[in-house]
Amino acid sequence: MAVSIAAIGPLHSHGFPSTEAGPKRTATYVNRSAPGFLEFAHALFEEPAPAFPGMHWFAAGARMKRVAVLISGRGSNLGALIEAGKDRSYPAAIVLVLSNRPDAAGLARARAEGIATAVVDHTRFGKDREAFERALQAELERHRIDIVCLAGFMRLLTPWFVRRWEGRLINIHPALLPAFKGLNTHERALAAGVKVHGATVHFVVPDMDSGPIIAQESLAIRDGDDASSLAARVLELEHRIYPKALKLVASGHIEMVDGECRSDLERDASGELILPKGN
Ligand code: GAR
Repeated sequence: MAVSIAAIGPLHSHGFPSTEAGPKRTATYVNRSAPGFLEFAHALFEEPAPAFPGMHWFAAGARMKRVAVLISGRGSNLGALIEAGKDRSYPAAIVLVLSNRPDAAGLARARAEGIATAVVDHTRFGKDREAFERALQAELERHRIDIVCLAGFMRLLTPWFVRRWEGRLINIHPALLPAFKGLNTHERALAAGVKVHGATVHFVVPDMDSGPIIAQESLAIRDGDDASSLAARVLELEHRIYPKALKLVASGHIEMVDGECRSDLERDASGELILPKGN
């Protein structure tokens, strides 16, 4: 089963930390999932007076990305991201789980892991989607978030919000985009009779399910598959590609430039499909 990563020629990424091991990794000897660790690290490195000259520079290049995961329900992709973040070489830490539904099961998982949670209940805002998003934005700012991952977050986001997070907002979709945008992807794939189906992680742009593709993985539809068997197998792909895609974005190996995905990953000599480097 192949994972394709959109790679459009070599690019030397600017300003992002490397994923390579080095002195900056000292901090990762601490249990990163321990509540308060990131706050401690920030206090040490970033707040207002550095402990020694040059520490700001050291910390700015070294710091792992602070990630918020936005959910509406079960949170199994959230779980995959949390597990990936436990690897001490992983360049991103999930520091906030934000739900638009107070009863989202993923919130309990986050709390059990000691991750901060917040609920911004969309029903409180009626039809005023921007007011809802301003409340989301306030939470994201309060937690000094660098990257937002949508993981089963079932609210459409307005251009107001999407533009604020351009290049730092990614989503997982249960289909091989650009096929089967929107809901009920497995039912529609079966009805269309496609032979190959899968999952996509992409940068979010104002048009729904349309942003530059970061990663995809595919599977063959089997005789006898129904929507639920297909959903279960696609979900396994989702859990593999989302952590990989976040790692590539957090480390700066893939970024969105002029509405396209740019990557400094090498192309696979065999052709269009490449395995993600930096695993
Ligand atoms: C996942 O299959 C995800 O791809 C999908 O919702 C599910 C959430 O599951 N997202 C969308 O359909 C967005 N258009 P999870 O809560 O267990 O991660």
